[in-house]
Amino acid sequence: MENCPDSGHSGKLVAGNLTGVPVIMLSGRKHYYEEGDAAAMRFPLEVLKEAGIEQVILTNAAGSLREDMPPGSVMMIEDHINYSGRDPLIGEPADARFVPMVDAYDPAIRTELAAAAMVAKVDLHRGVYMWFSGPSFETPAEIRMAKLLGADAVGMSTVPEVILCRFLGLKVVAFSIITNFGAGLSGGAPSHGETREIAPIGGEILSRVLQQYLKDMV
Ligand code: HPA
Repeated sequence: MENCPDSGHSGKLVAGNLTGVPVIMLSGRKHYYEEGDAAAMRFPLEVLKEAGIEQVILTNAAGSLREDMPPGSVMMIEDHINYSGRDPLIGEPADARFVPMVDAYDPAIRTELAAAAMVAKVDLHRGVYMWFSGPSFETPAEIRMAKLLGADAVGMSTVPEVILCRFLGLKVVAFSIITNFGAGLSGGAPSHGETREIAPIGGEILSRVLQQYLKDMV
């Protein structure tokens, strides 16, 4: 995968063992906003499926819509709103395209991750993620709308990958690393620079949860 060199998405694949569990990590992903292709991650996910992976754990950077979830927080996604209206399965010819989306974020794995977060002493937030196509950030009016519609965080990714995982029969969960408040909230004026600066803070917290989760698996 090739990514824009300045985007902060390096496009590397790393395979190895973490706490005894075989893991493949994709550092970075293709986004809809790059070329207007919501199915941009279909091929990499198909490769992972062929490689025999059982679970997909997605991560993203996101803007918070909640005062109690400031930058640096980590939110486990419980459900999403596909506000972009795009779908990676448009054009898919077979009836398998009618993918059910109830419990899309695997409930059993979420329960295990919540337990791992408690052991790791991490305050794990939970909520609904709303997908905006990007690459421009939201306006304050759009953020007010997102709150009214029941979102807890907003971002520019993840939803197409979750749909593709469901289509491919892969169990999936996802986390948002909160890098800022949504535009206009608590002085929120999101920028890519801020996203890159704050993401490693939440990333470190999330890595504690994931390491505990993997340890509990063996
Ligand atoms: N909006 C959309 N995407 C984002 C944001 C945001 O506020 N922060 C990080 N990614």
